[in-house]
Amino acid sequence: MAENRGRFITFEGIDGCGKSTQIHRLKQRMETMSLPCWETFEPSSGPVGSMLRQCLSGRMKTDERTMATLFAADRLDHLLNDQDGIFLKIRQGIHVICDRYTLSNYAYQGVSTSLDWIEGLNSEAGKILRPDYHIFIDVEPEVSLERMAKTRFHRDLYETRERLTEVRNCYFSLIDRFQEDENILVVDGSQEADAIAETIWENISFLFE
Ligand code: TMP
Repeated sequence: MAENRGRFITFEGIDGCGKSTQIHRLKQRMETMSLPCWETFEPSSGPVGSMLRQCLSGRMKTDERTMATLFAADRLDHLLNDQDGIFLKIRQGIHVICDRYTLSNYAYQGVSTSLDWIEGLNSEAGKILRPDYHIFIDVEPEVSLERMAKTRFHRDLYETRERLTEVRNCYFSLIDRFQEDENILVVDGSQEADAIAETIWENISFLFE
């Protein structure tokens, strides 16, 4: 791909870790620097992503393996669709900030299904585009549950202490496994939002030089 392609930054962490605040801050900072940037999320707003939201809220029941497959399918559609696909934006020189990507699939579905199998499901996405940086915001499940209790009336499928603990542990083993091949930043999410935003910028600003 051309050198003037956009950069691809993904945010990861357990539910309630503070991703949204940091994504908002990063986008604002990039906009003040006149860097073209687009914010997006997974599950996406596309057809498969909408189905997944229904599964997460409990409106639709499905098996964990089916969920794992749907997340990977949603990712390919999010990447490749010709209206607002991530790959299109990147090729147009627009920087993309994405709330969750492949590591979420590995960490959340890896708890209940085979990690190798999920890696296989995501292999096409990996051949097309890999994040320039994965930013993992780490908080203890107790902190995330406390934050969510203040802001949400409804708990989604994975928002229990047990599951979030397993998912966080899974993230840590993934970081160990992938850190030689991928750029992964681990940030302490219990710090003040300003301090977190500074750490993130210090680590990724070189991508935009
Ligand atoms: P969020 O919109 O608050 O980030 O919630 C999305 C939920 O979807 C969150 O519980 C994590 C889950 N998820 C997976 O389980 N696998 C995936 O591949 C993705 C992208 C999200």
